[in-house]
Amino acid sequence: MGKEKFATMAVHAGQKPDPATGAVSVPIYASSTFVFQNAEQGAARFEGKETGYIYSRLGNPTVRALEESIAALEGGEDCRATASGMAAISNATMAIVKKGDHILAGDALYGGTHKVFTDILKGYGVECTLVDTSDLAAVEKAIKPNTKLVYIETPSNPMMKLTDMKAVAKMAKAHGITTMADNTFMSPYLQRPIEHGIDVVVHSITKSLSGHSDVLGGAIVGTKSYLKVMDPLFKNMGANLGPFEAWLTLRGIKTLHVRMQRQTESAEKIAKWLEDHPKVQWVKYPGLKSHPQYALAKRQMDGFGSMMSFELKGGVDAGRKMMNNVKLCSLAVSLGAVETLISHPATMTHAVVPKADRIKAGITDGLVRFSVGIEDVDDIIADLDQALVKA
Ligand SMILES: Cc1ncc(COP(=O)(O)O)c(C=O)c1O
Repeated sequence: MGKEKFATMAVHAGQKPDPATGAVSVPIYASSTFVFQNAEQGAARFEGKETGYIYSRLGNPTVRALEESIAALEGGEDCRATASGMAAISNATMAIVKKGDHILAGDALYGGTHKVFTDILKGYGVECTLVDTSDLAAVEKAIKPNTKLVYIETPSNPMMKLTDMKAVAKMAKAHGITTMADNTFMSPYLQRPIEHGIDVVVHSITKSLSGHSDVLGGAIVGTKSYLKVMDPLFKNMGANLGPFEAWLTLRGIKTLHVRMQRQTESAEKIAKWLEDHPKVQWVKYPGLKSHPQYALAKRQMDGFGSMMSFELKGGVDAGRKMMNNVKLCSLAVSLGAVETLISHPATMTHAVVPKADRIKAGITDGLVRFSVGIEDVDDIIADLDQALVKA
């Protein structure tokens, strides 16, 4: 049998029946520590001469099942599950950059990532340049002799700008630079950056992978040699995921492909409907022919996803009125959930980004971000319609 198809891996990868009991669902191993048969075994495990569990910060069977599942879905060699998406991003990055190094990152990053890269890491002697990574010439121009990491979000959050992963990976490799992609928006069902030459993939599993707005977690996927370098940092800084969150995420992943298919179908319909609406100024969605990178979207993604942003003709005031009048859609940050979520990046997810950086990246005060859930699409459109009447 060759490599299994995505839907099969979503249900089975890493999720073998429990060897001790035959339980079909991976058990929640709610144990902080694991008994050794004798002192020699304990010492051998600490020395890495014997595999086996020691202490849950260093490894846990439920968490391990999730790591194997995500590594298989992303097509990576291995994975580490973390306590949040930000823990994944900060640990993965700190294993690559040291004092005196430079990060080159996209100019429309998730607010927390922007804060870590441009402010927090600055205090540790790491500099960062933000650049429009959809512009390859600009990326090449911004590379410095001390650049160690090129970091991308594609599509970017919330501008929905795409980066040509194959081209950026090739360019970075020629300069000996590691590439990292935040694949939260798409999930591995719709996009697998490693297939395009990206070295490390990070996730907020809080979003599509868990999918039900009930988990906070993250994941880092990369080669075994990269994770070996990252492990001492990760295991000693204590950014590991708990077993209950790992179990909820494993449960979510079993339906990832089904949810993403439905969300994508609905999002395509909603984006077209919004684009034709007289009160809407513009819509950014990679599945619209009006998206300037529609051809690239078709080339590097297996579907256009559940995320879009738009602005109303009445700008920030109209956008606020609309957000205050939705009934079915929830006015909340986060994304990729079964529930449809609507939010205002300028005052919410991207509020920590200085206004000048935000405006330069195109994140205007009137921009509304929309994450399509799995409710009936006609009900979502009806809700938007009645809210737009009041805007
Ligand atoms: C694209 C993206 N990356 C990373 C994060 C951070 O994830 P977490 O909130 O799980 O730390 C978020 C959170 O919204 C996000 O949208």
